[in-house]
Amino acid sequence: MLKVIANATNKGGEGKTTVSILLSEYAALVMKKRVLAIDLDPQANFSKYYLNLEYDPATNGGKIPPIHHDHNAEEDPGDGRSSIADIFYGGQGVTPYPSFFENIEILPAHSQRLQDAEAVTKQDVVEKVHLRLKEFISLDEVKQNYDLIIIDTPPSKGPLTIAGIKACSHMVIPSQMEEDSIDGIYGMLQLWKQESYIRTPDDPITLVGILANRVRNVSLHESFFEQLSKIDSTKDFIISHKIKERVIYGELRVKEDRPKSVFELAVDHPARVECSVACKEIMDRIFQNG
Ligand SMILES: Nc1ncnc2c1ncn2[C@@H]1O[C@H](COP(=O)(O)OP(=O)(O)OP(=O)(O)O)[C@@H](O)[C@H]1O
Ligand SMILES: [Mg+2]
Repeated sequence: MLKVIANATNKGGEGKTTVSILLSEYAALVMKKRVLAIDLDPQANFSKYYLNLEYDPATNGGKIPPIHHDHNAEEDPGDGRSSIADIFYGGQGVTPYPSFFENIEILPAHSQRLQDAEAVTKQDVVEKVHLRLKEFISLDEVKQNYDLIIIDTPPSKGPLTIAGIKACSHMVIPSQMEEDSIDGIYGMLQLWKQESYIRTPDDPITLVGILANRVRNVSLHESFFEQLSKIDSTKDFIISHKIKERVIYGELRVKEDRPKSVFELAVDHPARVECSVACKEIMDRIFQNG
């Protein structure tokens, strides 16, 4: 059955995009699953990593997907660019792009269109944004073409993050082991609980894990991790393997000809080793426990 992971936390810079990349590549390169990467963040960092985006001439610094290689200008009067944002505007089909990696396809962000979706009025938000991604993911074509969908969300609790949470079967909360970051975890636990109350037994939302990211060998980080591993509200969710603070994660995000995956580093590279065990722990929870 298709699994859908949303990486979410309203706090910025915790590692949502990094973890979205790690899980996509672990699933595609190591587990050989067919992965669809979906970028709901107007910052477009997840898309930018897998695809050469273009600057939007209409906005200051916004990103747009390139013209799709399958676009036929004679048959389709549209602009030939396909973004996940299109699902919030009705009518248009969306066409994923191949990425630099075999087995990973990407539905990229469109900065302005996603920002507009995030700003939809309260009366319209459920109908126009919250439910749209779930509807898209439920299409037979999507279910048949992929084993796993990875959704990256913006740093907010806004409509796009809610759409991601409503569409997912599994939620991952990446977090630094710092005071403000831990507050973000509680905010997300609340959203997960609210969503789980309204799910049906055949369509549960499982919180797979809180993944400690950018961990340094300092007592502050260790003590937050220990605390989360003990207290009732989080102990079942904490992923026992942590991702440390390492320069290589930033370096891997700067692509040259094409990005290099952490799973293409030497097998004994410490980053590859820690990512392999952390991603395995998450994927085992998802694929073995349902
Ligand atoms: N374990 C790590 N070690 C070192 N740098 C990291 C690590 N994890 C993430 N970073 C860096 O920290 C920055 C923020 O990470 P990332 O983009 O994954 O966070 P985010 O939660 O997606 O941010 P945003 O909320 O802006 O979308 C990036 O520059 C990334 O390269
Ligand atoms: Mg991000």
